[in-house]
Amino acid sequence: TDSSAKGADTRDIGLKIEENEKDLVIFWGSQSGTAEGLANRLGRDCRSRFGLDALVADLSDYDTESIANIPETKLAIFILSTYGEGDPSDNATNFLSWLDSSKTTQFFKLRYIAFGLGNKNYKFYNRVIDVVTEALDRFGAKPLMPVGRADDSDGGTDEDFTEWKQSLFTLFREQLGFEERPAQYEPTLRILEDTSLDVIDLHIGEPIKALIGKRETPNISPIHALPIKLAKTLLSTTERNCLHLELDTSDFPELKYKTGDHLAIWPSNPISEIQRLVGILGLNSKLVTRTPLLIQSLDPAIKVKVPSPTTWEALFQYYLEICAPVPRDTVLALAQFAPSESAKASLKQLGEDKGIYHDYCSKTHVTFGRLLESVSSSCGSWSNLPLSFVLESLPILSPRYYSISSSSIVSPKQISITVSTSTEASPTHNASIPGLTTNYLLAIDQTKRNDTVSGPSYNLSGPNGTLEQGGKLFAHIRKSKFKLPVDPKNPIIMIASGSGVAPFRGFIAERARIAAIGRQVGKSLLFFGCRSPDDYLYQDELESLQNSNKEVEIVMAFSRTEKNAKGGKCYVQDQVEERDKEVVKLLLEQNAYFYICGSAGMARDVAARLGECLRRRVGWSESELREWSEGMRRTHRFQEDVWG
Ligand code: 2AM
Repeated sequence: TDSSAKGADTRDIGLKIEENEKDLVIFWGSQSGTAEGLANRLGRDCRSRFGLDALVADLSDYDTESIANIPETKLAIFILSTYGEGDPSDNATNFLSWLDSSKTTQFFKLRYIAFGLGNKNYKFYNRVIDVVTEALDRFGAKPLMPVGRADDSDGGTDEDFTEWKQSLFTLFREQLGFEERPAQYEPTLRILEDTSLDVIDLHIGEPIKALIGKRETPNISPIHALPIKLAKTLLSTTERNCLHLELDTSDFPELKYKTGDHLAIWPSNPISEIQRLVGILGLNSKLVTRTPLLIQSLDPAIKVKVPSPTTWEALFQYYLEICAPVPRDTVLALAQFAPSESAKASLKQLGEDKGIYHDYCSKTHVTFGRLLESVSSSCGSWSNLPLSFVLESLPILSPRYYSISSSSIVSPKQISITVSTSTEASPTHNASIPGLTTNYLLAIDQTKRNDTVSGPSYNLSGPNGTLEQGGKLFAHIRKSKFKLPVDPKNPIIMIASGSGVAPFRGFIAERARIAAIGRQVGKSLLFFGCRSPDDYLYQDELESLQNSNKEVEIVMAFSRTEKNAKGGKCYVQDQVEERDKEVVKLLLEQNAYFYICGSAGMARDVAARLGECLRRRVGWSESELREWSEGMRRTHRFQEDVWG
């Protein structure tokens, strides 16, 4: 369908907008898909509430200088994420370097609006949107409202976006004279059931690279179904499970990883949630008969995000994220299809009132299916809900990334990951769905061992699945910058909390192997934070490496069974402070590398405490410390692999 788009292959955004008669463009810069999802939802709302035709565009699809060709009657909205150390997403990298190096371009005609996604736990909070808007202003572009910023440190991205969108729509109405009308849905997709389709052509659940978009391709390997060589439970309590999985890559010689890389696992949705949603949509029988589906875009400028042709079964099991909480703006958009006036009123209230929405979300896990169910049980069926709306609103099911916990030198053909699952069901949250992939992996492990599955059940015999093929998982490798020093003589200091120990298991094993072949290896000092000795992951292995290598030292911080010097919880940063003399010496005199892996909150606290230690021991000023930290990051001697 794309070839029918006018200017289908053009990289000139001005031309594309004019030829397709778009009212505005929404550019996204996204790595994990969040900013892309927000851009799509904004496009949907512009269409349904204002009748504005928005082009939602991947930044890397257009030449930056062509932004100058966007007519002044149109608008450009930028929705851009900041990652790690102030970095743009892969699809925005060229855009930023172009803005940075260009001296001549004038964007006098451009009227723009900007929104950034970031996390205050990271040092360079929302740096990307700041760099971009500064450059646009320098080039003469006209901002129509203050830059919006989302902070994900408390998981508030969606809420920040929803609030910002309200002020955007106020601007639309009051300054730009766009008329708001009662929400009027116009599908962007056509779904055709076509039993004549050849089953050979159907996408039945196998992951394809297009599902993660171009944004990741430079760094990722092909996707393969890898046999599970070993699945071992490292930890199993009423609250948490931790699994060690080893996947065999022997059949794929081209699949190479390096210690510190990430492994992506392609999950599947639990049966209970699939049945719930499909039941409400009246599609039960279609799952059984596996009706072939063709999904086409009605707007030549928009690509279909799911693979087509496919089946309903594959869509709900493998391609759509049906377990994610429903964002507030989608709740509101659903109101127009509500089965009754009372259902409409309650959806409107839930979607419009931040307090009510958050209260509801804190009590129950609001998936799409559960939301529809809760409203329809009292008020009739959802027969007015277009399936195209469901497909447009649900995000694509994306792979989950794990730090690889093996060393590519010690086991080049066997990749291991360390997966921790929370099984905590708090009394107020009895309907919660803890980690999707982690439960999927847990179910595979338990089924393999003929054990009772303790979490949700999964269909493990489909195309992704696993047991029919003797236990395989669809996976791919993503390169990371989290790497050992090239020269093993450099000492390394590693800070881990919980399953953040994963990459360090690989690091320590690799350096022990290098030492075993007679090369000189610097000190490997690991600070490892756990709740108690019961959840000391890989204890035997790590201790035996410590006992047989004089350069390996492990310092534990047990937060719930030990106290720090001040009588509080014993955390890794307390242990670092206890040994600050040695740590400072390793860093300043012996060129040690410093690594942190685990939660973002822990990483922030550790970095701050390390700074205090350096200032006290060396007598640095704030600016001397900053200069040193920046130098460490620039030369890759300070590296983080953090989440949450
Ligand atoms: P806690 O749960 O007892 O507070 C792995 O999750 C370990 O990291 C646990 O021991 C946990 O302690 C600890 N942890 C949680 N927050 C932390 C922080 N901000 N800094 C350091 N360790 C932290």
